[in-house]
Amino acid sequence: MNSTAFFLGKGGVGKTTISSSFALTLARRGMKVLVASLDPAHNLGDALDTRLSGGVKKVEPNLDALEVDLAYWVDKYLEDSRRQLKANYSYNVTLNLDSFFDILKYSPGTEEYAMLWAIEDIHCRLGPLYDIVVFDTPPTALSLRFLTLPTISGLWVKELGKLREIILEKRQTITRLNPESPVAASCVDKKDDKVYGQLKGIGSRLRNLEHLFAKESFLCVIVNPDQLSVDEALRIQDELTKLSIPLSAICVNKQGVSDMVWAQNPALARYPQFTYDFSRGGISTREDLLTIGARPLADHFLKNAFNLTTARKKK
Ligand SMILES: Nc1ncnc2c1ncn2[C@@H]1O[C@H](COP(=O)(O)OP(=O)(O)OP(=O)(O)O)[C@@H](O)[C@H]1O
Ligand SMILES: [Mg+2]
Repeated sequence: MNSTAFFLGKGGVGKTTISSSFALTLARRGMKVLVASLDPAHNLGDALDTRLSGGVKKVEPNLDALEVDLAYWVDKYLEDSRRQLKANYSYNVTLNLDSFFDILKYSPGTEEYAMLWAIEDIHCRLGPLYDIVVFDTPPTALSLRFLTLPTISGLWVKELGKLREIILEKRQTITRLNPESPVAASCVDKKDDKVYGQLKGIGSRLRNLEHLFAKESFLCVIVNPDQLSVDEALRIQDELTKLSIPLSAICVNKQGVSDMVWAQNPALARYPQFTYDFSRGGISTREDLLTIGARPLADHFLKNAFNLTTARKKK
């Protein structure tokens, strides 16, 4: 039984630093941890002081890491979709699917879908091998898109399922009236309809991901003691609240970076707060990740969130 944690926030606030520091702290406490970077501009390997790729690498006892190869997942997503569409529409020789998919590769949304299926793969295939899976995320815009995608796409898929039911019903009516009709050949019950089955399948995968984000994950937003990163955290809070995805904690990183007087925004102050010191000497080794104040968040997670997410899943 594993738990999942996501670290979100504005570019440069310390998502990679805090997620690797958190993962390392838990691993050194004996938990089996996987930390995965979803940022297309990976630097998790730099933070952990090791070389990473799309495959799992053992960083040290109890700590494994990987950097999701987004290009691989985009190609896989397009190839799977191409294969599925070709099988469904093999009779339609006028539709040039290949040129359609060449365009789709660069279409908005493709990367987000690819990332979603990468998260699903990590959660379902690798998750059971670990106590905790930690995700280091890309800057806010892309993260919000993949976090909101299951809910939004789920609605689309549900509507498409209803449309498909109507099409199948109409085919049945036509076939009843005229068994000789060309439609009769493709008249099947919805349980035997390939397209309807595929829509149900995608719907169920999206629901599982929606459940993972909204009910099973520890979502931590990182801010720095400055207005811009706080404004972005408020935007994240706003977008996720609309989808009933609750935030679990706020990390204030680089505490002491300047002498500017700063107070937490009241809308964020109601979440558990964890502060990380600004290290004037920089963070260049793996051990440095443990010197900035990583313990309180790990304690909180183990005491509250880890048991909570595990208990939620057992229900
Ligand atoms: N507490 C800290 N003390 C000193 N330096 C820090 C601290 N936290 C992060 N940094 C430094 O700030 C820079 C940005 O940190 P990091 O890469 O973790 O941010 P990020 O949010 O992952 O950035 P991106 O959005 O580009 O992925 C790095 O050079 C990192 O070493
Ligand atoms: Mg980063």
